[in-house]
Amino acid sequence: MTSSYATLLYQTSGGIATITINRPDKLNALNAAVIAELGLAAARAASDPEAGGVILTGAGPKAFAAGADIGELASQTPLEAKARSLAGQQVFRQFEAMRKPVIAAVNGFCLGGGCELAMACHLRVAAETARFGQPEVKLGIGPGYGATVRLPRLVGRGRATELLLTGAMIDAQEAWRIGLVNRVVPAERLLAEATALMSTMLSMGPLAVATVLEAVDVAQETGSAEALTLEANHFGLLSSTADTREGMQAFLEKRAPRFTGR
Ligand code: COA
Repeated sequence: MTSSYATLLYQTSGGIATITINRPDKLNALNAAVIAELGLAAARAASDPEAGGVILTGAGPKAFAAGADIGELASQTPLEAKARSLAGQQVFRQFEAMRKPVIAAVNGFCLGGGCELAMACHLRVAAETARFGQPEVKLGIGPGYGATVRLPRLVGRGRATELLLTGAMIDAQEAWRIGLVNRVVPAERLLAEATALMSTMLSMGPLAVATVLEAVDVAQETGSAEALTLEANHFGLLSSTADTREGMQAFLEKRAPRFTGR
């Protein structure tokens, strides 16, 4: 099923919702309309029974998203700027907190808010042509959509600080080397590879997938004692499900499991 927003495309196929930022003439820059519609699309995907996972990408061959819309940033008051930052952070958090896998398929420039959006996704697959960076300092501002939090977690404090303070643009191979992306693929294979990766995850027990996503997310936000307790609670809870019984039975019978999400 396909339906369009003013600035996005939303399509479900094969159990995957693909959300495409659709402003290619502006390198998919994230203006207020895109941010608002991303929030609507994330909420829709989270409750869409046809969507077991989400692939987020950008329209056209040139950009995933070249950052926040600089035209909008240029005229904002301090309070408007703070509200813009909080609104974007909330929307990006919707993707990060989703209990379905979210893959960013990065097809070109992935800068500023675009890189922050990709980092809020659970995994990142990059085209060989992708370019990453946090160039905000070149404009005399800092990141507003989470880069100071998520970039150090992904690549370590030293590398993150260098990227944040130099505004340097790095290519896909370097992004892979430092752990910013999970894999690099030929540009023409990007969506196929992201779909294959998603399909692997969607063939697993869906309750197990959801609880792993929750546990990894909670572990980022709390102390290890609480996170380990949650992991043990999930382990116990899952053992009572039909999917766990099916998964183990299938292994013993040397056949593929048929998970039902119950
Ligand atoms: N906000 C608003 N418009 C943007 C944009 C952004 N972040 N990034 C690109 N665009 C627009 C350009 O203004 C241009 O619009 P126009 O055709 O109406 O003039 C169009 O997208 C194409 O961009 P252009 O700069 O001509 O492409 P390029 O290939 O020469 O350069 C970039 C590509 C990514 C290097 C360059 O666009 C750029 O530096 N963008 C800003 C990146 C940035 O600083 N992001 C962080 C913002 S906080």
